[in-house]
Amino acid sequence: MSARPLIIDCDPGQDDAVALLLAFASAQEFDLLGITAVAGNVPLARTEDNARRIRDLAGRPEVPVYAGCPRPMVREPVSAEYIHGETGIDGADLPEPSRPPESAHAVDFLVDTLSAATEPITLATLGPLTNVALAIVKNPAILANVREIVTMGGAIGLGNVTPAAEFNVHADPHAAHVVFEAGVPLTMIGLDVTHQAIATPPRLEAIRALGTAPSSAVCGMLDLYGAKNVEAYHHGAPMHDPCVIAYLLSPGLFEGRDMRVDVELAEGHCFGRTVCDLHGRTGTAANARVLERVDADGFFAMLIERLARLPMAPI
Ligand code: BDR
Ligand code: CA
Repeated sequence: MSARPLIIDCDPGQDDAVALLLAFASAQEFDLLGITAVAGNVPLARTEDNARRIRDLAGRPEVPVYAGCPRPMVREPVSAEYIHGETGIDGADLPEPSRPPESAHAVDFLVDTLSAATEPITLATLGPLTNVALAIVKNPAILANVREIVTMGGAIGLGNVTPAAEFNVHADPHAAHVVFEAGVPLTMIGLDVTHQAIATPPRLEAIRALGTAPSSAVCGMLDLYGAKNVEAYHHGAPMHDPCVIAYLLSPGLFEGRDMRVDVELAEGHCFGRTVCDLHGRTGTAANARVLERVDADGFFAMLIERLARLPMAPI
């Protein structure tokens, strides 16, 4: 099996960081062409810096990191330090990145790489969809070379950042609208799924027991992120973004259905909500596969097995 060409767009973020480590640890499955950073959990200057720190931690300094959009398309910027801490990866305690980001803008990297692709490329999106939407707006022809988009965002049910909306979609609903309307195979991994994948104390202990620098950073981050989630949402650390990478590695761990999803763009209580037509009430063709369930034990077994493959340098 040849490795699948993949670009990860992200806003690290502790759970983005774990997702990146899972992808780095899966070099046989993924040909990781680049990482694009976007403003989201914390400002862009932090997210792109964090992506480079994680890349170094994984022992993969050759993977290019591109800085993208510093703000959403239309709405005023929002961020989530209340969950991720001031740096976005509080608890990881990582050294300065070994080298700078690439000089190209993330949107240009997406457009140029997809335009030149000889094999369709998968996009894994872990943050607000600003970079991906702007690439589509800049050159819609790139969509012909997108194999699929797997996005962490939205929810069938409740939101997290507001009662109705999930953070990534709420942070740039107009960008999410562009992506959901793009007409490429799209898998939505929303809160209904990611809240089933909680890093409970026994699961964290199993990661800690690996005794490596990456496992120590993961536990440092998830201890803090879990505590913030308990404060805000009364549950431990949900593995939102790692679910995207886990789905690409092992789709059989997940169950879902095709349905129509629209993004609420009117400002008000439901701004940024993903309106999921669970029962086919609109009679409109599906534009997404919406995942609903994950085998959480299977997910954590894979995550732990993969993290164990990362550099063994003891802490
Ligand atoms: C999403 O928002 C961010 O806080 C997380 O990194 C994740 O991508 C969850 O709503
Ligand atoms: Ca994220």
